[in-house]
Formats: sequence, structure tokens, C-alpha cells
Amino acid sequence: MNNAPKDTLFQVETIPEDFVFNERVVEVFDDMLDRSIPFYREVIEASARLLDNFLAPGDTVYDLGCANGTSLLEFSRLLQHREFAFVGIDNSMPMLDKARLKAELYRKQDRISFSFEDITTFDHPGAGGVILNYTLQFIRPLQREPFLTNIFNNLRPGGILLVSEKVINHDPRLNREFIDIYHRFKKARGYSELEIAKKREALENVLIPFSVAENLDMLGKTGFAPVETYFRWFNFASFIAVKPS
Ligand SMILES: C[S@@+](CC[C@H](N)C(=O)[O-])C[C@H]1O[C@@H](n2cnc3c(N)ncnc32)[C@H](O)[C@@H]1O
Repeated sequence: MNNAPKDTLFQVETIPEDFVFNERVVEVFDDMLDRSIPFYREVIEASARLLDNFLAPGDTVYDLGCANGTSLLEFSRLLQHREFAFVGIDNSMPMLDKARLKAELYRKQDRISFSFEDITTFDHPGAGGVILNYTLQFIRPLQREPFLTNIFNNLRPGGILLVSEKVINHDPRLNREFIDIYHRFKKARGYSELEIAKKREALENVLIPFSVAENLDMLGKTGFAPVETYFRWFNFASFIAVKPS
């Protein structure tokens, strides 16, 4: 059980609007992550191992769509033995306010900085690592390839991009069963059927998942090689994409 304020956003008797990362979401975001993203902590740990193995001293790690900084703080803790700088980027001011507050609280403000930017115009040449967790799915599908190309161009040779996403399956039966298993995961963590349905509706127009193959293909087309899946749980997956040296 976590100590974060409980996510009750979809318990209200109203018709859901499209999901936005506003003050109300920020308040309950850590609880939402814990109860909505399977193996959230384990994915951060696995990603930290990859950053540890691939990156060089002095490298900067960018977390695009860093939200309230929870995962970036965890990355900096897991990688405290390495000389990395960490930069979180987001375009939600309430999220960044919370992220900065947390970095101060944990006395990490010398190592972690946060910046209000549109990630699709990412412009930080020489980046060693880029993390893009549960955020590419919110970028309009037609913008995704140019966005990934932009990240590729900003990474130094040998640098890595780590992407975690909700994914779909093009086989309707498998897709249905995976989503059903995911909804049971949420129910077991205290969300009601109605909350699950309302959240699904609110996300429908804004969260557009691709399949594993589509994500790998898009990363490959951008120039990354190799690209590989390093985590999979039903309708969630994480990918590593390496910029050739
Ligand atoms: C699901 S949250 C990310 C969760 C976070 N990466 C983690 O692992 O805890 C998506 C975040 O992406 C941000 N975002 C979406 N589109 C963006 C854009 N074009 N530029 C900057 N941030 C964006 C949202 O404000 C939100 O904070």
C-alpha cells in the first residue's frame, strides 16, 4: 500500500472529459501510477540497469514527460554511484511544480533539474540517454516518427532511448483478453468497474497505443539499431533503442 493521496478521480457521477494532466491529476498521480501501471517500479529498475551499462561518466539523462518527477528521482537514487546529470521535461506546470518540490525535499536539486518544454521539439544535442515512459502514447500518431527522429538526432552515438508504453494486439481475441487481464489487475488494486470504464472513456481520444511490432518498426525506421523489447506484461511493453556508434 502506498501513502499517496488516493486516486478517486473517476468515482464522481459525471460524464468524463478527455483526460488532461491538471492539478487534480497531480494530487493523486503517485497512487494512480502504483495502481494503474503494472510493474511500474520493476520497469524503472530494469531501465536503470540499462542506463548503468550503456552510459558513460558525465552523460545527461533526459526524462521526457517526466510528470511529477517520481521516476526521475528513483532513477537518480538507483544510479547515485554514477556521474550522470538528470533533466526532466514536461509541459504541465502543476506536474513540474510538484517535481521541483520533491527534488528539493530529497535534496537532489543539484543533480536533477526540470524544464517546461514541449518534448516534440526536444533540442538537447549530445544526450546520453532519453527515457520516454508512458508518454509516446499521448503524442499524435503522425507526430511520433518525426519526434523519434528528433530524439535520435539529439542522442550522441552509442546513446540509448528507453520507451515504455501501453500496447495493443491486432488479434481481436488476444487484445480483448489482455485488456481483461489488465482490468482485473486494476480491480484487484481497488478500482471499481465504473471507475475503470470512465477512465477508459476519458483516455479514448488521447491515449492511442501501437502494437509491439509497430513500435519496434517505427524505432528501427528512425535509425536506431538494435531495437529490442526488454519488458512485457500483457498490454504493456518497454523497448530499448540504441543509436549506432
Ligand atoms: C503518463 S505521464 C508520464 C509518466 C512518467 N513518465 C512516469 O513514468 O511516471 C505523461 C506526461 O507527459 C506529459 N506530456 C504529454 N505530452 C507532452 C508534450 N508534448 N510535451 C511535454 N510533456 C508532455 C504530460 O504532461 C504528462 O505529465
